[in-house]
Amino acid sequence: MERWQGKLAIVTGASGGIGAACARALVGAGLRVVGLARREAKLLELKQSLPSELQPQFIPRRCDVSKEDQVIESVAWTERMLGGADVLLNNAGITRETELVAVDNTEKIRQGICPGAVNTNIFPEEIHFYVKHMARLEPENIADAVLYALRTPPHVQVHEITLKPMGEIF
Ligand SMILES: NC(=O)c1ccc[n+]([C@@H]2O[C@H](COP(=O)([O-])OP(=O)(O)OC[C@H]3O[C@@H](n4cnc5c(N)ncnc54)[C@H](OP(=O)(O)O)[C@@H]3O)[C@@H](O)[C@H]2O)c1
Repeated sequence: MERWQGKLAIVTGASGGIGAACARALVGAGLRVVGLARREAKLLELKQSLPSELQPQFIPRRCDVSKEDQVIESVAWTERMLGGADVLLNNAGITRETELVAVDNTEKIRQGICPGAVNTNIFPEEIHFYVKHMARLEPENIADAVLYALRTPPHVQVHEITLKPMGEIF
């Protein structure tokens, strides 16, 4: 990770789940992280949960990534105040329930396709009864994969990593 020491990552959706785990892992690995999300209080909670010497390395910033002006302003602010980002972890997202063959669902599909299940708060309350019995990864498993991709030497390009929980049922 030497080449990433002191470099800056932007993590979208850093207030919970996978984004929070990744932000925590990146800070722990020596990067500074601008954490973007709508719930500033959750971002501050994450900052305060870091070891005190690492807290300055996590920079929370409120941003709704569905609003283009807020994204542009956050990136411009990062350029202006911190010299720009070296890594973008574009993680923020939501789920949408639909079926592939349903009509008028293009927008839902565009927003919501995701692979292997991860144990976060992304699943809506109504399907918790089903989800709690599903094989799931932990957010830290995704953070490990992010660190792996960063750790490879510069001549190695990681195009895709597929992570599935053992025992996943389709
Ligand atoms: N969990 C899974 O099974 C799974 C599997 C594969 C892929 N994924 C993908 O992984 C990503 C993270 O999912 P997760 O499970 O960690 O979800 P999560 O626990 O619900 O966390 C979602 C994060 O995204 C942020 N977010 C949502 N909408 C946002 C917006 N408009 N602007 C800024 N931030 C926003 C939330 O923060 P605020 O509410 O504070 O804004 C939160 O920090 C998503 O893109 C998801 O599709 C998830």
